[in-house]
Amino acid sequence: MFLCMSSTIFFSSIYLLIACGSVYGWGGDGHSLTAAIAQTLLTNESLAFVRDHLPWYTSGNISMLASWPDYIIYPDTNPVDYLNWQWSKELHYVDTKDWSCVYNRDEDCNWNTGRQCVDGSIQNYTIRLADTQQDEIQRNEALKFLIHFIGDVHQPLHAGFQGDRGGNSIRGHFFGKETNLHSLWDNIMIERRISQDFHSQPLLYLDYLINQMKTRYAQNTSDWTHCPSSDESRYLACSTSWIIEDAKLNCEIVYRDENNQPMSISKEFDLGQTYYNTRMVILEQRLIQGGLRLATVINKIVQSITDNNKSNKICFGTMMLFIALVCLSIVTLSLLIYSFLRRKTTRIMLLPTIKDKNEYIPVA
Ligand SMILES: *[C@@H]1O[C@H](CO)[C@@H](O)[C@H](O)[C@H]1NC(C)=O
Ligand SMILES: *[C@@H]1O[C@H](CO)[C@@H](O)[C@H](O)[C@H]1NC(C)=O
Ligand SMILES: *[C@@H]1O[C@H](CO)[C@@H](O)[C@H](O)[C@H]1NC(C)=O
Ligand SMILES: *[C@@H]1O[C@H](CO)[C@@H](O)[C@H](O)[C@H]1NC(C)=O
Ligand SMILES: *[C@@H]1O[C@H](CO)[C@@H](O)[C@H](O)[C@H]1NC(C)=O
Ligand SMILES: [Zn+2]
Repeated sequence: MFLCMSSTIFFSSIYLLIACGSVYGWGGDGHSLTAAIAQTLLTNESLAFVRDHLPWYTSGNISMLASWPDYIIYPDTNPVDYLNWQWSKELHYVDTKDWSCVYNRDEDCNWNTGRQCVDGSIQNYTIRLADTQQDEIQRNEALKFLIHFIGDVHQPLHAGFQGDRGGNSIRGHFFGKETNLHSLWDNIMIERRISQDFHSQPLLYLDYLINQMKTRYAQNTSDWTHCPSSDESRYLACSTSWIIEDAKLNCEIVYRDENNQPMSISKEFDLGQTYYNTRMVILEQRLIQGGLRLATVINKIVQSITDNNKSNKICFGTMMLFIALVCLSIVTLSLLIYSFLRRKTTRIMLLPTIKDKNEYIPVA
């Protein structure tokens, strides 16, 4: 912590973001895993694109900045200008009505009325990233936000109940240690999994998740990367549908204790192996879905920019051809006029000669 604080004084706050551990969002691990899964699924064009739009020191490694939107809003990770980013706090989540088990975009997050939420932010930043008219700084920022928010939206409690602030106000114990429900899903279960089963090595866990995606969920990936036809989101970023999945999970498993009883603010929970075993499978599925969908959206955006560039090139080519034809006609026309005039002058000049010739004829 001290190291972290003191280095901030010397280095730019953004550079610092790589060095410190996180306790917010999906935790640092969750975001970094989701982004790392996505990284393996990016096309060559997308890899070049992220290299172009992220700071040089990342070499296009999207995991490195996956927690950036969390770091910028807190004074301990961004003491210099965290106040300037407070507006972005509410972009990380959406609150749903307690035990409604559904998400209603118009009621829960109507960003046209100035209310912000993770649904609107995903729609906002996909469109901004794809918009080549937008300035570069804004687009680079859009990419960093998008990498993070597509992760966040897959943590069910980022669409948790309003009454308990997405599980933050529900407290209790997990394997005897005090925590709240939100942190349990952000970090604690993932950390336990990595330390217990993967020798505390996130990279081994990453390999495991990628393997799960390619085997256990091989038949599901195509479903997961398609949007319902009713969803009009662009670039396959159907955040509304993903939040609807969260809302369902919340009612069915997240907010239920080991006896299937609803959890609430007024009752401390006491969870252990049963909750961990049964919920971890879903949590991992969400990490995989997040990574898969993040890659799909980036690939789709990059493809649309490339296609646009191509059709611009075609348009440019057509215009060049048109201009060439116009030039050619002007040249041809000038030549015609020139030769016409020339013939006329030649005629005028020749006439006396002919006359002369005629004069000579009788002589000859
Ligand atoms: C992508 O790039 C790698 C390394 O540059 C190359 O080996 C691979 O063939 C490329 N893939 C495609 C589909 O072009
Ligand atoms: C990308 O960054 C993450 C997080 O900093 C790191 O664990 C991983 O090794 C990096 N991957 C590559 C290919 O450099
Ligand atoms: C869209 O992004 C801009 C720039 O970051 C931000 O000011 C605005 O509040 C965002 N809108 C929504 C609906 O998230
Ligand atoms: C994955 O696909 C299989 C086969 O279609 C299906 O039975 C299963 O329910 C799917 N699992 C999830 C988690 O969507
Ligand atoms: C599209 O064209 C712009 C400007 O010519 C260029 O900077 C950009 O790299 C191109 N993007 C892709 C994905 O081809
Ligand atoms: Zn977040």
